[in-house]
Parts: sequence; C-alpha cells; structure tokens
Amino acid sequence: MSLYRKIWQRSLEDPEGFWAEAAEAVSWERRFDRVLDRSRPPFYRWFEGGLLNTCWNAVDRHVAAGRANQLALVYDSPVTGTIRKLTYAELQAEVARFAGAMVRLGVRKGDRIVIYMPMVPEAVVAMLACARIGAIHSVVFGGFASHELAKRIDDAKPVLVVSASCGIEPGRIVAYKPLLDAAIEQAAHKPRHCVILQRPQLEASLVPDRDLDWNEAVSAAHPVDCVPVAATDPLYILYTSGTTGQPKGIVRDNGGHAVALLWSMRNIYAVQPGEVYWAASDVGWVVGHSYIVYGPLLNGNTTIVYEGKPVGTPDPGAFWRVISEHDVKVLFTAPTAFRAIKKEDPEGRYIRKYDLSRFRALFLAGERCDPDTLLWAQAQLGVPVIDHWWQTETGWAICANPLGIEKLPVKPGSPTVPMPGYDVRVLDEEGRECSPGQLGAICIRLPLPPACLPTLWNAEERFVQSYLSRYPGYYLTGDAGFKDQDDYVFIMSRIDDVINVAGHRLSTGAMEEVLAAHPAVAECAVIGVADELKGEVPLGFVVLKAGVDRPHAEIERELIQKVREEIGPVASFKLVAVVTRLPKTRSGKILRGTMKKIADGQPWTMPATIDDPAILDEIAQALARLGYPRRKTD
Ligand code: COA
Ligand code: AMP
Repeated sequence: MSLYRKIWQRSLEDPEGFWAEAAEAVSWERRFDRVLDRSRPPFYRWFEGGLLNTCWNAVDRHVAAGRANQLALVYDSPVTGTIRKLTYAELQAEVARFAGAMVRLGVRKGDRIVIYMPMVPEAVVAMLACARIGAIHSVVFGGFASHELAKRIDDAKPVLVVSASCGIEPGRIVAYKPLLDAAIEQAAHKPRHCVILQRPQLEASLVPDRDLDWNEAVSAAHPVDCVPVAATDPLYILYTSGTTGQPKGIVRDNGGHAVALLWSMRNIYAVQPGEVYWAASDVGWVVGHSYIVYGPLLNGNTTIVYEGKPVGTPDPGAFWRVISEHDVKVLFTAPTAFRAIKKEDPEGRYIRKYDLSRFRALFLAGERCDPDTLLWAQAQLGVPVIDHWWQTETGWAICANPLGIEKLPVKPGSPTVPMPGYDVRVLDEEGRECSPGQLGAICIRLPLPPACLPTLWNAEERFVQSYLSRYPGYYLTGDAGFKDQDDYVFIMSRIDDVINVAGHRLSTGAMEEVLAAHPAVAECAVIGVADELKGEVPLGFVVLKAGVDRPHAEIERELIQKVREEIGPVASFKLVAVVTRLPKTRSGKILRGTMKKIADGQPWTMPATIDDPAILDEIAQALARLGYPRRKTD
C-alpha cells in the first residue's frame, strides 16, 4: 500500500488521532478539550475548547522563533513598477498598528470588517489585523461592482469597511472609492467608518466623519497584541456564488483552519519554512485567503503579493521573472493563466529567458484543467504540474497529489486522489455509489475535515438545504464527475448554475436576475459556453416584453452594460441575443443544457419533453450570429 493511502485511510479510521497530531504544529493558547464534537450531526466542530490566535500563529510566533528578519511578504507590482519587501518583524509591526487603529475606531471581537482592496500589502495587513483582535473579515474581490458589494455589506453588517482609492488594471485605473460609496448608499446597513488607503495613482475624496485616511488612522494608533479566540470562532466570512443571486457567506473557523492549512503546506505543496511560495491569485478569492495569506504565513514562508497579470504586464514572461527574481519554489495559479501564457508564447521563449532552476512545482486549481494545458506546462517547465480540486467551502484541497508525502502518477484530466479527512463518494440519483467510470454527483461523507465550512453566515437552514439535504450524511460538492478504477477523481461539470470564468466562480442565476430587471425584458436565460482562454464565458438569451420595438442591438448593449455595472467586469458578460422565445420543456423548465451543447458544438438530441422543437433553430441562428460554436484556433 502506498504511503499516501496509509495516511489517508488512517485519517478516516481515526480522524481524532490524525488531526490531534496535525494540531501539534499550531501554537495553542489553551489546548482543545475535544478534537471533534460529533454531538449535533450534521453539524460538526473541530478543536472545541481550544483557544488560539491565527495572527499569532501566522506572524508573531515566527518573530519570537527567530524569523524576525526573514521576508514574510514581497509585493511585486508590475502595474505600478513597485517592489516592496516586509520582514516578519515589519509585518508584525504594521499589523499590530493597524489592529490598534481598528480598536481605536471601536472595533471589537466578533465585529465584521469588509475589506474591498486591490492586491496591495495593506490588504494582507488588514486581514491579519482583524484576526489579531478577533474581528471577522469579509474580503470582497475588487472586480465586483457596487451592487454585489452592497449585498455583502447587508449580509455581513460590518462596523468598518477597509478600502483603497483605486485598483490598477492594465490600461485603466479602477476607482474603488466611488464604487464603495455607491454600495454604502444602496445597502440598508451602514458601516460606521471606512478606512481608505490613498494610492498615488488616484486620490479619493473622503466623507467627513465617516471616512479616514489609512495613514492618518495608523499614525494615531498604538500597536495592540493578539487576542485569544475560540478555535470554533469565525476567522472570516467569504461570499461565494451559488444558484441564486444571493451569495453564500462561507464561514471559516480559526482552529481547524490553522491545522488543515499547515498540514497542506507541508504535505501537499511540500514547502519548508523559510522558502518562497507564490499563489498568483487575488486576496478576494479563497485561493488568496488560504495560499497568499494564511497558509504560507502560518508555515513561516515568504509569500508574494503580485499586482499584475500573467500576460501584458508587460509580457508573457511576467511569471518567470517573478519566480527567478524572488526565488519562488512553488507556484499556484489557475489553468486560465497558463492558457493565456501559452497563447502568447507557445514555444516557451520567455520561459528560457529566466533562471528557473530552483523552481520545484506548479499547482493548478480553480477550474477544470484541460490536459493540453497541463501537458504544455509540464513540457515547458520540466517540473511536476499538479492539478488539484477544491472550493471556497472547503478552504483547502479535497483532491490533490500530495508531493510532500509522495508524488503519485499524474493522470491528465484528474486532480488525483482525496486528501486526508475527505471520504469522497460519487453518488447516483438514488444515492447509490457509482461504479468506476460512471458519472454522478461528487459528495463527501460527513464529517468534513478541519477548515471546511461549519455553516453559512446567519443562514444555517440554507447551509443544510444547499449542501446536506440532497444525500443525508453527505456534503454535496455541486460538482459532477467520476472515479476511475484506481480511485482517481475526475471533475467534469457543475450540477447547478455556477460557471467558472477565468478561474472566477460566478452564478448565472445572478446574471439572470440583472437581465430580468431590465424594463424591456420578459424572460431570460444565461448559460456558460466553452471559451478557449477563460474556460467558460456567460452567454445570455432574452425575450422582450410585448410591444417593445426598440432596436435589439441597443437593448443588447444596455444589458451588457447593466451586468458590468451591477455584478462587475469580472463577470465578462459580453454575449447576449434577443430571441422570440426560450426553449422549454412542456412543464416550463428552460432547456439550458441543450442550448449549451449547441453553443459548444457538441452532439445533442432533441429532448423528448420539448414544448416546441422549432425554437432550437432560432437559438442556433442567434448563436451563429455571436460566433458560436467556436472553431478551435490551434
Ligand atoms: N478590479 C477591477 N477589475 C478587475 C479586477 C479587479 N481586481 N480583476 C479583473 N478585473 C476586470 C478586468 O480588467 C477585465 O475588465 P475588462 O472587461 O474591462 O477587460 C474583467 O474584469 C475580466 O477580468 P479577467 O477575467 O481577469 O480577464 P482579463 O481578460 O483581464 O485577463 C486572464 C484574462 C486569463 C489573464 C486573467 O483572467 C488571469 O490572470 N487569470 C488568472 C486566474 C486567477 O487569478 N484566478 C483566481 C482563482 S485561482
Ligand atoms: P471556488 O469556490 O471559487 O474555488 O470554485 C470552486 C469550483 O471550481 C469547484 O466546485 C469546481 O467546480 C471548480 N474547480 C476548482 N478546482 C477545480 C479542478 N482542479 N478541476 C475541476 N474543477 C475545479
């Protein structure tokens, strides 16, 4: 039996023993009484009775243990031409000061703080400062617009919002402050204060009494120490897309999170304290939370905060420059970044311009990794390329290839095998386990391992209904796929309305809500269609209300603008067509799957239950006008 298999089996047979051992890597203020509280299924809590502080574990304890002068964070920003380095001692000083500034503004343990920031070190400082005083952060990705931000403000009810005057996208400056002002205007809940980091590229105007300049807030503050919190207290809330327009507030606790992330740094990513680890993502996503901020810092690594893109900042060699310049040992990014690089540099010429001899492994996640991209990356880089699968809900990999234990054979198209604590089962409609190769709903037998969501913020019933009720005793991942005869897992598609655009998780349901609110629209459907670069992009069909006789092109432009303004540019909503009707079953269900197959140029059959088969001709014509199905370019 392989070493991995032994470890995985033990984690399922003796979860208490397994995770108690893993918990030794964490510094506890008070040791937990119970490893796993099973008294209230389907709710499980890890490390009950334990007290710790996540910021202490991620920052202060490294200073105390002799890493004060080691780099904790390297900010590399090709879009502003800046490189800034912070040692653990410097990071500690900044975090303690900003925590002091928050305390001075009246922030207390358990209060929520919304962080809406670009990829600057202050975003990390703000997150850690919250952890330091037991406040619960909720980071909102900068590519979301006011309306989405307002929804999160109303759900989390923050006392304070931390933001910046602007973000910088290649070729344009994104003014964050007006977006924040509009969100607060729209939201029913009003935060008491906003702390704004003024960036030299664009000054924001501050609202008297409510807004404070970051520098002024910090200079008036005294550093504060870490406050012990319960292992089961929330560290953060991170909103993610579900089937409706109302995002789900994924709750992460302190204890289980620290234990599982530390285990993952050593056993999955195989990085030693002191080494440089880089997740090229954004702090607004779970990858950023776990592997830009908490994972590497908990493990005493140097983390990279990269404000740039894989291509165009300034060229497709950007990643290789960062790796060689900062001695990155392990890179984690989304396959879409590699598709973008491959498109501009298919021969890998830029790769050979840099010394990558110390680079050890590439990890990919966030969307399905197509075998072409994986094989190209492997051939170009000559290091292991590991696809691994997880979600905002779990906080760390469900399936991976645990390089720190042993490198299992790679099967392109599969994120390999379940990690400890994850008892992954593929179930059919009736809840029976599928045989190897048979497609089904991918589920995880309860209890979930540490770090996975204990609940949704203020929505326990929705937690049960979304994840635990379909198959009692199991967590429903929302992904469909199969296992092969070697127990390798293959993730094939979603079973809900979630789509994955350039590694960003979005809800087509949320886009439909925006389209349906347009005064000319009677009904609509949004589907995800295959895209060579972004994996998937959204495409909308709308039916106009009777009597609307404005030019269709004009309405289509308005709809595209409306999604950009209400959800944000990150939705990449650029394709929409007016049609006379939507294809439906006789019971009125919109045939999204069939439309998707037509758009993707896949074989499809006329659904037996279709109300009016002729409508599919019109859909095919509308898709042809939008250039679908696409021809593969390489
Ligand atoms: N703030 C404001 N706007 C943002 C933003 C942010 N933080 N991030 C993205 N946007 C905007 C972009 O400017 C773009 O706007 P546009 O429509 O005006 O061009 C839009 O949102 C879509 O962005 P993106 O999906 O990033 O597409 P892109 O065409 O700019 O770049 C890639 C394509 C592949 C280079 C890019 O998606 C990428 O680097 N992906 C890496 C994947 C990743 O980080 N995934 C996170 C999970 S691991
Ligand atoms: P997020 O919560 O934003 O991390 O998105 C999680 C979803 O992205 C998963 O439920 C999958 O649908 C998809 N996903 C993430 N990683 C992978 C992967 N390695 N292979 C296939 N799909 C993935």
